[in-house]
Amino acid sequence: MARIAKVIDLPSIIKLNKAEGKISAQLIQILREAVQQGNLQAGDPLPASRELAKTLGIARGTIIETYDQLIAEGVLEARARQGTFVSHILKSPSSQAISIQSIDSDNLTDAAQAYAQIFKEFKPLAHRPFAVSVPIGRTQPRDVWRKFGNRFRACGVAAPSGYDDPQGVYALRSAIADYVRRSRSVQCEPEQIVITSGIQQALYLCSQILLTKHDAVWVEDPAYRGTTAILENSLQHLQISRVPVDEDGILVHTGIELAPHARAAFVTPSHQYPLGMPMSLARRAELVEWAKQQRAWIIEDDYDSELRYIGQPFPALHAMAPDRVIYLGTFSKVLFPSLRLGYAVLPKVLVAAFCGLRALIDRHPPSADQHVLGAFIQEGYLERHIRRIRHVYAENRQQIIQLIDRYIPKTQAFIESGDQGMHMVLWFANSVDDLKIARLAGESGVSVKAISPTFSEASQRSGLILGLGDFDVDQLEQAIQILSKLINDEHQKNSLHPNPNL
Ligand SMILES: Cc1ncc(COP(=O)(O)O)c(C=O)c1O
Repeated sequence: MARIAKVIDLPSIIKLNKAEGKISAQLIQILREAVQQGNLQAGDPLPASRELAKTLGIARGTIIETYDQLIAEGVLEARARQGTFVSHILKSPSSQAISIQSIDSDNLTDAAQAYAQIFKEFKPLAHRPFAVSVPIGRTQPRDVWRKFGNRFRACGVAAPSGYDDPQGVYALRSAIADYVRRSRSVQCEPEQIVITSGIQQALYLCSQILLTKHDAVWVEDPAYRGTTAILENSLQHLQISRVPVDEDGILVHTGIELAPHARAAFVTPSHQYPLGMPMSLARRAELVEWAKQQRAWIIEDDYDSELRYIGQPFPALHAMAPDRVIYLGTFSKVLFPSLRLGYAVLPKVLVAAFCGLRALIDRHPPSADQHVLGAFIQEGYLERHIRRIRHVYAENRQQIIQLIDRYIPKTQAFIESGDQGMHMVLWFANSVDDLKIARLAGESGVSVKAISPTFSEASQRSGLILGLGDFDVDQLEQAIQILSKLINDEHQKNSLHPNPNL
């Protein structure tokens, strides 16, 4: 296929005042400023003089005069048989951007500074062991995903169209309603489902719609940073009660002691994040009982419940109180995170509000992938895919456990037991700084997350979250050897110079 040369769309930058005259002087000034401000960058091609003159409705000679002047100033350069370009010898736009940044950061609001920090925290890890949710090798959706894409995008339902429904494409909602009924015992109608940009957006919608300032909320301790970061930053004066978990899940009686009238509880009942155990039936019943009495909401984050390796996945809590539970699911784990598609199953009374806020944030999720995914689910490929990756992740998990057993002494680090999910936890046996190990590991080519940011200040623990991507055994072995050395070095340092504060 012939390549289409990239030519900068100058008319959108150029606003001429023809009544004022001196058109060439105006043009020179506009183009000079566009280059200084980085709107035109070194190497950008400019339109041919004839074409630009026609678009702007001015004489071609004026354009030639303008280009000649800017070439003489060194702002533009002419290349034989190629045309006119922004000069390569200009200061690089990145250095301009940096100086703009340093001037403006003085004026940033507290919120802007907090979000800038969050941006650093949420930078994705490089796609290598042990990054979570990297669909490579056998965990990639196979050719059928590409085929469906081609089939629906070319001229089918996913072809370019106008604005769509903020609630999400009906065919996808309908496929999800069937899927969650079969696989998660969640009974709902397509009308109760709102398609979101992953669970992350759904959590944000919940925070804005269900809570008001001065409300109290329960959040598990430890918990997913994507949840705690939203609650810490998006509502002022929110009372966030971090409620500890034990092997049965959230300690409901402690939650009641801390904040009996909380408006909502954010929980991960099928697979506590990041520890991995399911919430027991008794604890679910206690939580639901409290929520019913208080008319509180339970936000059930069911992020990777499909991936249980022994026996069937645990059913969702939703069935116990469909009027009080907001059930959140995602395709980031079972398909791939860059898809950015998830869903909220809502009590009917909340649907319109979720759609309204959704419309204000981004109107609706991109429609094309919704159609592709809807068909993928409806035709049975999702469940087939899940069966396959369950097997792959189980195998990888076993592989990693064996490597940890071989290379890392239990006196230094040990694995949290568990039988589901896409990650495992490696606890440090003593007070090793997990943020430091994660940083050093990153520098040595291993992607791991520290677990300490998932805990509240009061109950800090140190360890690593290891994702179970489908990396080959050699890569996994090399990565565990690197981790083993880092942990051992840190362990030795700590035993020589124990921290008196710990
Ligand atoms: C517990 C938990 N909830 C929610 C999410 C957000 O997932 P997404 O926004 O990709 O659907 C994640 C992602 O890692 C997670 O671990």
